[in-house]
Amino acid sequence: MELLTATILLLLSSSLPFSFSSAHKTFIHCLVNHSSSFSSSSHPITESIFTPNNPSFSYVLQSNIRNLRFNTSTTRKPFLIITALHASHVQAAVVCAQRHHMLMKIRSGGHDYEGVSYVAESPFFILDMFNLRSIDVDIETETAWVQSGATLGELYYTIGEKSKTHGFPAGVCPTVGVGGHIGGGGYGNMLRKFGLAVDHVIDAQVVDVQGRLLDRESMGEDLFWAIRGGGGASFCVVIAYKIKLVRVPEIVTVFHVKKTLEQNATDIIYTWQHVAPNIDNNLFIRLIMDVVNSTQNVTKTVRANFLSLFLGDSKSLVSLMNVNFPQLGLKQQDCIETTWLQSTVIYWSDINPSTPLEVLLHRDLPSDYFKMKSDYVNKPISKVGLEGIWKKMIELKDTKLYFTPYGGRMNEIPSNATPFPYRGGTLWMVEYIANWFEPGKDVADYYMNLARKLHKHMTPFVSMNPRGAYYNYKDFDLGINHYGKSSYVEGMVYGYQYFNDNFNRLVQIKTMVDPANFFRNEQSIPVVPYEMVLDNGGYSRIMIN
Ligand SMILES: Cc1cc2nc3c(=O)[nH]c(=O)nc-3n(C[C@H](O)[C@H](O)[C@H](O)COP(=O)(O)OP(=O)(O)OC[C@H]3O[C@@H](n4cnc5c(N)ncnc54)[C@H](O)[C@@H]3O)c2cc1C
Ligand SMILES: *[C@@H]1O[C@H](CO)[C@@H](O)[C@H](O)[C@H]1NC(C)=O
Ligand SMILES: *[C@@H]1O[C@H](CO)[C@@H](O)[C@H](O)[C@H]1NC(C)=O
Ligand SMILES: *[C@@H]1O[C@H](CO)[C@@H](O)[C@H](O)[C@H]1NC(C)=O
Ligand SMILES: *[C@@H]1O[C@H](CO)[C@@H](O)[C@H](O)[C@H]1NC(C)=O
Ligand SMILES: *[C@@H]1O[C@H](CO)[C@@H](O)[C@H](O)[C@H]1NC(C)=O
Repeated sequence: MELLTATILLLLSSSLPFSFSSAHKTFIHCLVNHSSSFSSSSHPITESIFTPNNPSFSYVLQSNIRNLRFNTSTTRKPFLIITALHASHVQAAVVCAQRHHMLMKIRSGGHDYEGVSYVAESPFFILDMFNLRSIDVDIETETAWVQSGATLGELYYTIGEKSKTHGFPAGVCPTVGVGGHIGGGGYGNMLRKFGLAVDHVIDAQVVDVQGRLLDRESMGEDLFWAIRGGGGASFCVVIAYKIKLVRVPEIVTVFHVKKTLEQNATDIIYTWQHVAPNIDNNLFIRLIMDVVNSTQNVTKTVRANFLSLFLGDSKSLVSLMNVNFPQLGLKQQDCIETTWLQSTVIYWSDINPSTPLEVLLHRDLPSDYFKMKSDYVNKPISKVGLEGIWKKMIELKDTKLYFTPYGGRMNEIPSNATPFPYRGGTLWMVEYIANWFEPGKDVADYYMNLARKLHKHMTPFVSMNPRGAYYNYKDFDLGINHYGKSSYVEGMVYGYQYFNDNFNRLVQIKTMVDPANFFRNEQSIPVVPYEMVLDNGGYSRIMIN
């Protein structure tokens, strides 16, 4: 144990500014001791532990902060970061954190809209998964094992290296982490054809609350159901997902057509509402509205950006559009034919077809400050309603509105097949975005309120009881949990909005797999408000007041 003591002394080097409590020291002791008991001497856990005394600590912390709102000097910092290099490090973190009552945050790609993976109100440490990023594609079986720390860009690139006719239906931003994204649902441009990322997960490797390494068979179908959209972080640490790839044509087509109000955007959007969720499943036409200078006069106008992916060639696309959506006036010269892989790059880079594929591997894309909110629309909005929305946007100036059409495959999957509830009956999802580039609380409050005001204005047009929201677009305005006496009631508020009727099953599973609520965060799934006792192999409940 000489060596153990020496390494720990090194980790804690007391001459440096940050001083550790004895609780922190025994926690680190436990990590070092425990990970060796989980084997793997080729991956000593000491190499993955960063204390604030380590010169790389700030770099490790900041390099996966995607929302600069949480990169301020007043944001609470973790007392430790474990950048797991091996599953045994995850097991040690889970076991020791419970033994020493430490709050753990799990981070993969760090894209959480509210910084849930790397910020907390009370002292905490980060279990950072970015080193666990291997991707193993098997074209023969059309499957892949992908670790949580991989990004979507790395996944797409690796699939594309192996096959021109395979892809995966997940998000459009290449730096998003697999761990958070798939755990929370995951959708992208192929949503109408193939549904969500979670609809293509066939196995997983997780570390449960007891520190056991489990797969689908050993974790059972309940937990496996929960981690496909219910948010992994409420239940376990996800090490990897096994996914089924989808087949894509060798040639796909993209377009980006812009129409301002002066170019009849209102009429075209009115029609889009009826067309986009019902047209051929191979066609996805997303709408992004922003506020721009009018070319006609000195006032502002709203511009509608029709951004599209079609799983087919441009000729078929143009004739499909002529029949179903002539109002947009799509022409052959608006279309770019490309491979599916290249489409994932150029879609993100404002349709610049010469963007190199290697962009998919960049992890250091620029960050900004942002606030997002979401909604679901179940019935078309009248022209008067649309005009009112544009007026509000022009008044607010710095907000964007995304409309993502559903329908197609989304209508065919039952709403309880996975925790993600908004399937059939949903016409499209709304996303409200406010982003900015200057620091400061007043600036932040100003922009955050813009998103809130636009969200409020949309109330008459969106789903109600509950007003739906997308779990991967985390929004603390829906309420947060303090894990006191009203934990279940607090959890119900955001829980029903994110998961609707699936919330109850998530609570049951949570109570079964993590009754002491170790895996918790501001918006995690609460346990049932009863004390659980084991009764003849099943669970029954005794009320406590
Ligand atoms: C620029 C941008 C673009 C986006 N585009 C899309 C899009 O096209 N489609 C879409 O569906 N979503 C999109 N999102 C939202 C994104 O899917 C979510 O923010 C997602 O949760 C991010 O995953 P992450 O691993 O990067 O984030 P993290 O911040 O690391 O994690 C998010 C949450 O998951 C938990 N978690 C992370 N890893 C694990 C793990 N291994 N085990 C258990 N829990 C874990 C964290 O604790 C946290 O609660 C986008 C987000 C951004 C910022
Ligand atoms: C290390 O673990 C062993 C058993 O796994 C235990 O007996 C011992 O006390 C632990 N030592 C420390 C320093 O935690
Ligand atoms: C986060 O803050 C640090 C220090 O305040 C700064 O050096 C760093 O550039 C910031 N990160 C980004 C992406 O702006
Ligand atoms: C807008 O619609 C009107 C009436 O339907 C039509 O006359 C006009 O040409 C259209 N303008 C544009 C730019 O398409
Ligand atoms: C829009 O107009 C304002 C002045 O009214 C000007 O300052 C600004 O640069 C213009 N923006 C663009 C993108 O042209
Ligand atoms: C300027 O544009 C707005 C929005 O399209 C329109 O309502 C208004 O009549 C225009 N004003 C002038 C002077 O053309």
